[in-house]
Amino acid sequence: MPLEGRELAEKVFVRLDTPSDDGQRAGTRYPACESLEATISALAKEPQFRDIAAALKAVEPMLRWRRRKSGPNGSPGYVEQHANGIICGPGGAESRSDVQLGLTIMLPQTRYPDHSHLPEEAYPLLSPGEFRQGDGEWVAPGLGGGIFNTPNVMHAMRSGASPFLALWCLLV
Ligand SMILES: [Fe+2]
Repeated sequence: MPLEGRELAEKVFVRLDTPSDDGQRAGTRYPACESLEATISALAKEPQFRDIAAALKAVEPMLRWRRRKSGPNGSPGYVEQHANGIICGPGGAESRSDVQLGLTIMLPQTRYPDHSHLPEEAYPLLSPGEFRQGDGEWVAPGLGGGIFNTPNVMHAMRSGASPFLALWCLLV
């Protein structure tokens, strides 16, 4: 994970030290959620990721699931083949509006649409997978690697032969 991404994640977790929960919940699950259990189990086989895998497994039933339905260059069927789970953020397991911490799960051979947003963002990768920023090359940072997105930079991710799982966090 780039230094700026680690610094951003530290700021997110400092803010999360102050609990805040507006009580909003939504429970819809989507087809891509079904690959989460196996993906987290694969992660748990890596000793240094065992704790985060256990934490994700514990929080998963409380996530709010959403899907991105538009944006350029998404692969055919990507809407059905991905889901974004909100851990901390509007409607999430801890529903709040000042921080967003969540995950993206994608089925194999899925390309997420190009998208951008004002808040800077850190994306640690918890599976095989690739990221792209702007018109740059696709990069595979490896398990525990990731990308840092500066404000409004265009970015996307894609899976290969296996599902993609990454966390993301932003200060809002
Ligand atoms: Fe993003």
